[in-house]
Amino acid sequence: MVERSAIRKDFIADYDGLADQWWDPRGALAPLGWIARARADHLPPAEQRPGHRQACLLDVACGGGLFGPYATGRGYRVTGVDLSELSLQEALRHGFDEVVRADIAELPFDDASFDVVTAGQCLEHVPDPYAVVGEACRVLRPGGTLIVDTIADTAAARFVSITLAENLPLPGRPPRGTHDHRLFVNRERLTRTARANGVELTLQGLRPRMRDMARYVAGRREEVRMVPTKSTSVLFLGAGTKC
Ligand SMILES: C[S@@+](CC[C@H](N)C(=O)[O-])C[C@H]1O[C@@H](n2cnc3c(N)ncnc32)[C@H](O)[C@@H]1O
Repeated sequence: MVERSAIRKDFIADYDGLADQWWDPRGALAPLGWIARARADHLPPAEQRPGHRQACLLDVACGGGLFGPYATGRGYRVTGVDLSELSLQEALRHGFDEVVRADIAELPFDDASFDVVTAGQCLEHVPDPYAVVGEACRVLRPGGTLIVDTIADTAAARFVSITLAENLPLPGRPPRGTHDHRLFVNRERLTRTARANGVELTLQGLRPRMRDMARYVAGRREEVRMVPTKSTSVLFLGAGTKC
């Protein structure tokens, strides 16, 4: 068996190459926009306390900033971190207040410096997603919210996210090779890591609403709503508060 830490892929070059597609509703990254909207359902409005700084949100591996409008719309000052320079420039164009080019395995921020930390669709691309979750918890203040979403390490996820999603000739299809099933995330280890770092995550699954999907494919709709599911065996989201 290949060690996951030995799996290397030039994802950053891939995302630099796709940077002009972040905001294209029918481009290769379109489903990330649908998931960002579902993530926003778990985002509490920013607390505005007189005499205190504006509430701060860190978007870990922010890509082209698809979560930006949701975060700024709820009153947060938004910082993004990613390694793809061209994607970070997109994020700045879409409402991010600040972007930092860094590896999410070692977040260049102080402990407890953010009120909310989000990590969407990135854990399944890194050799050690549990270390990233540990870092996300470290920079989150007590009482703050962590929201993560990623892909489960199951045969069902491999079939849906790779065999179907990367091969069916449909709009919103990610390039072949975007996902490596060996990097998919173990749910039990993810929740255990978050718990060990003070965050009890509640998991739920997500899937596209089929009626929207049919209309999207037919060109009669520009977005697909994601709906929550009990099963977390493919795409799933975890949210929790740091104690
Ligand atoms: C699938 S995209 C998700 C982007 C964004 N979170 C979203 O949901 O729209 C994955 C992102 O992770 C970034 N990424 C992958 N590995 C990284 C690393 N080690 N450090 C920083 N960013 C990384 C890529 O550049 C890309 O922008």
